[in-house]
Amino acid sequence: MVRLVITIDGPAASGKSTVARLLAAKLNATFLDTGAMYRAATLAAMLDGADLTNQQRILEVIDETVFEFKATPNGMLVRIDGVDATAQIRDPKVTANARCIACLVPARERLVDMQRRFAQAYERIVTEGRDQGTVAFPEANVKFYLTADLNERARRRQAELKAKGVIQTDDEIRQAILKRDQSDENRAVGPLKLADDAVIVDTTGLSVNEVVEKLVDCVKQKCSVKP
Ligand code: C5P
Repeated sequence: MVRLVITIDGPAASGKSTVARLLAAKLNATFLDTGAMYRAATLAAMLDGADLTNQQRILEVIDETVFEFKATPNGMLVRIDGVDATAQIRDPKVTANARCIACLVPARERLVDMQRRFAQAYERIVTEGRDQGTVAFPEANVKFYLTADLNERARRRQAELKAKGVIQTDDEIRQAILKRDQSDENRAVGPLKLADDAVIVDTTGLSVNEVVEKLVDCVKQKCSVKP
């Protein structure tokens, strides 16, 4: 039974996944990278050969596929029908196509349901995405909204892709981030937006550890459940 829920929302490449994983470790909690769920659903549809504008087929694929998500010290382990897809869901093509699933209302409903069921198995959870504090867990104990300026986000994404041997120009990365932000902010359901009670953390110029320390301090201050 889940007792402590911390949500971290924010735009693409704002450092949410890394921070959520490290914050969860500090709080003895599990983390959930909900972007991995949208990516997994997207990859499943792509592997199926589905036309990504065919909403009916996308929903069928989601319903027919067995998705497994597991928090590990290295990030979210993802299996699609028993096959490890952890690396493949990070492919830039999957990243770009995730928009088609993220804008589809019944798909979001299914994934939000998946997120709540995942959380139910744990006492403490740090969950990150775009709509965690606003839609999936509006009753969360503490809500964060992570931001960073575009240059910094593009730098972080470039480093992440380089480490994986993926070559993209700085301009391609900036355009991809801007396009995703625009789509995430403007969709009708589960858009990226600030929850009224969210704490805004601008991570520009801060190290990951500095951000995590800030969040831990805030949780200690705001929360009756002690880390
Ligand atoms: O966070 P990440 O970049 O892995 O998310 C991939 C895509 O999934 C995002 O661009 C966004 O469109 C979608 N997403 C979403 N709602 C969430 C998490 C991710 O719409 N809670």
